[in-house]
Amino acid sequence: MVQTILRPAMDPAPILLDLPSSSFRPCIYGVGAWTDHLHFAYDLVATLKPRLLVELGTDRGESYFAFCQAAAEHRTGTRCFAVDTWRGDQQAGGYDETTFDEVSNHNATNYQPFSILLRCSFDNALDHFASDSIDVLHLDGLHTESAVRHDVEHWLPKIRPGGILLMHDISVRVREFGVWKVWDELRATGRSFAFSSGPGLGVWQKPPANRLPYPIETLLDDADGPASAPIEAYYRNLASEMQQKIAQEWRDGTIRDDDDARQTTIQVFHTHDGIHREEDSAVARVGHEVWKEVLIPLPSDAGAAPLRIDFVSPFTTIDLAAVELRRDEKTLFAARDGRGFETIAVAGDAERHPHHVYLRIEITGLDPQLYLPRIDSTSGTGALTVRLQLRATRDIPMD
Ligand SMILES: C[S@@+](CC[C@H](N)C(=O)[O-])C[C@H]1O[C@@H](n2cnc3c(N)ncnc32)[C@H](O)[C@@H]1O
Repeated sequence: MVQTILRPAMDPAPILLDLPSSSFRPCIYGVGAWTDHLHFAYDLVATLKPRLLVELGTDRGESYFAFCQAAAEHRTGTRCFAVDTWRGDQQAGGYDETTFDEVSNHNATNYQPFSILLRCSFDNALDHFASDSIDVLHLDGLHTESAVRHDVEHWLPKIRPGGILLMHDISVRVREFGVWKVWDELRATGRSFAFSSGPGLGVWQKPPANRLPYPIETLLDDADGPASAPIEAYYRNLASEMQQKIAQEWRDGTIRDDDDARQTTIQVFHTHDGIHREEDSAVARVGHEVWKEVLIPLPSDAGAAPLRIDFVSPFTTIDLAAVELRRDEKTLFAARDGRGFETIAVAGDAERHPHHVYLRIEITGLDPQLYLPRIDSTSGTGALTVRLQLRATRDIPMD
């Protein structure tokens, strides 16, 4: 299917234009928070043909591999660099080596000639890049105001005049997210466009306002005007199609066969009033098929009335050998055998299977939940940690 949009041209007659993303089929999608902007990322690289693109914050590569896919499919000659510790952070949550293994395999298989993974801190990567050298910089690391200020201050000098900075999560205002504050200041200093869908994506051109190819030029030149509206609508429609595709893959179970379906995200909700809110939660991610010990730090004043543990795990079986809540070395709750596991309620898209050693649950959809009994977590001031010993497997294990 060829998607076309109307572009108001310099002359009054609108012209029809096919964007490169009309035939884009992302290889990696739905594994981060970037699904809404993948098609724009693809067009940015395919039309701008940047010589040097750098991403700060790659995780499973949802955004980065859209850039790489465009560079490969349109032979743009771009050199791409992804910078990440591949350990996670306090907002993205911690994750194990599975992520880096998968990202480096995908990179080596598909983009080896032009894409380099720099496994280090953003600060340590600074010396790899000369001043005024980067054509497109994507900033998507830790999203606190101070971290974003630090990164912008250190990395803006690396962007060449007329180059592009992308900032992800400019619309998010919960849980200490402060990108929006830095973005609000930055946008006053150069041409910019803000995609409002999803967590928001800011596109900013470092002065001077050199002319850029379509559709970037139109977005920056007429940011809130009628010329950019159909372009934004085009991307919104594609994002909605992607979301429907992902939802369908969960409905029909084909999500299970995706190459990137080999990790489980664990989300622990803490509460004092019994209501579980997204902003009062902590996440971690583990690879499948082997036993893992997972430590998930909670705020020291977190309530456990009760704790709820959710999994995003594509129709796997999860065996839990231990579920604990600790304050420093003191154990506030522990379930490590049948009697302890009976105190944990299984709800939502999960079924409890009888097992003589583990708490075994089969994940049947997107929203499986475990509820721990109410625990008094209010005394003491030390670090509060959920400790899990678990194994997620594609098929029900024989043991
Ligand atoms: C929000 S995720 C990136 C999401 C990714 N762009 C995507 O498309 O899904 C943030 C990543 O930044 C990394 N990170 C955060 N601060 C960092 C720093 N100062 N140095 C290196 N990596 C960092 C974390 O390890 C994490 O993988």
